[in-house]
Amino acid sequence: MRFTGLTFFTKHSFRLAALVIIVFSSSLIGCSSSLEEELAQKPVKEKIDAVGKGEDQASGGKEDPAEGAEDGETPVKQEPAEEQKPGEEPQTPVAPGPPAAPGAPVTPEKSETPQAGPVRPTTALKDAFDFPVGAAVVYERLKNEPYSSTLKREFSRLSSESNFKFHMLQPQEGKFNFAKADAIVAFAQQHNMKVHGHTLIWALDGITPKWVLNYKGGEKEFDALLKNHITTVLKHFKGKVSSWDVVNEALTPGGGYVDNIWLRKLGEGYLLKALKYAQEADPSVKLFLNDYSQEYGGKKLTKYLKIVDEARAKGIRVDGLGFQMHTVLRVDADMVRQSFAKAAAKNLLIHLSEFDVSLKYQKPDTFELTEELSKAQGAKVKALVQAYLKGVPKHLQFGITTWGVSDKDSYFNRGYSNFNHDYPLLFDKNYKPKDAYYGFLEAGLGK
Ligand code: XIL
Repeated sequence: MRFTGLTFFTKHSFRLAALVIIVFSSSLIGCSSSLEEELAQKPVKEKIDAVGKGEDQASGGKEDPAEGAEDGETPVKQEPAEEQKPGEEPQTPVAPGPPAAPGAPVTPEKSETPQAGPVRPTTALKDAFDFPVGAAVVYERLKNEPYSSTLKREFSRLSSESNFKFHMLQPQEGKFNFAKADAIVAFAQQHNMKVHGHTLIWALDGITPKWVLNYKGGEKEFDALLKNHITTVLKHFKGKVSSWDVVNEALTPGGGYVDNIWLRKLGEGYLLKALKYAQEADPSVKLFLNDYSQEYGGKKLTKYLKIVDEARAKGIRVDGLGFQMHTVLRVDADMVRQSFAKAAAKNLLIHLSEFDVSLKYQKPDTFELTEELSKAQGAKVKALVQAYLKGVPKHLQFGITTWGVSDKDSYFNRGYSNFNHDYPLLFDKNYKPKDAYYGFLEAGLGK
């Protein structure tokens, strides 16, 4: 399934150029918020970069996270995100010293003077919420420490960065390979965690296996292909994977359909077909549409809500919306809360499915995580988790999943050996909880 980025780029350069033009023009015409415009470009550009590099490769099987290709994918470049504006979020008091490890009792220091730092809660993340708290994992890392023990201690749901994607499960026509995904499921079962499947279809040709892109046939053949993949996968994981992202990133920031092989062969209805086949294969499973930047409440969210109405009018179930929430410091938590509430008003489960807060905006290629940045991130994470708790009624709170465990695992740091390219997650590269962790936890504890 390997092909070079150059060959791929040459072959697809017209399509890529068209995509760039569409994306840029739609954001110029349609978006009201400049932050939305800027961020909406981010994942698309990442994908253009990824496509240019030929990201659709067979599993590389490298085991050193620093090498960054153990899930068979090349590192993805990140677009800069903007810093927090002064006064945007209340500042937390400055705490001297490192935070206490979670689960460990907070031991008072032998000192006459009272401690200046805040007393940190010691509850595990998963015990601070009524819904599952998840992390996206990579199969090869499950044997690593403290990756594995951190997962067991803090999280109650697993997703996977890539091990459940089409190109990983069916790298060749009809030859399914469930080994790595099964191992993730086994790990989850052993440690009493749920599993969320990510993703049956990723609406991007750069990620779709080449054999699918080259598959001979028209609507009928592609319909059968779609049905066969979804049915085989859902039946394989029946009773083990309780929810699925059925289609990932189907829409452009302007609310149009992303061009891809399924759209070209099956038309816009491919989305509803995918949902229908999933529902038929395993009626008990919760079905999600997952995407980035709906949190800005713009055209993309509006279009998803319309698709949900259309699906339901045809008797096709959509249980929830996945808000990826790869976000940045300056995002306005109240705007995000309103977007959650708008989606939840459709009686949709809301999953923050790929949560992280990038600090990269206007930073050089590598930079330090200063105390100030760390605190700002903690405050933002807390505000966003609170926005979820306030914006989504309890019965629709499906959960929050972070995209990785520590900054060392983050896909933003993939391929950067020092892991100091960005610091988007809850644990630092030594798996010590950051202010972001405590912000998340305190939101759950109502502090
Ligand atoms: C990313 C993985 O984290 C990387 O390891 C892989 O190289 C590319 O895909 N949005 C999504 C996820 O929906 O599937 C992406 O995962 C990150 C962006």
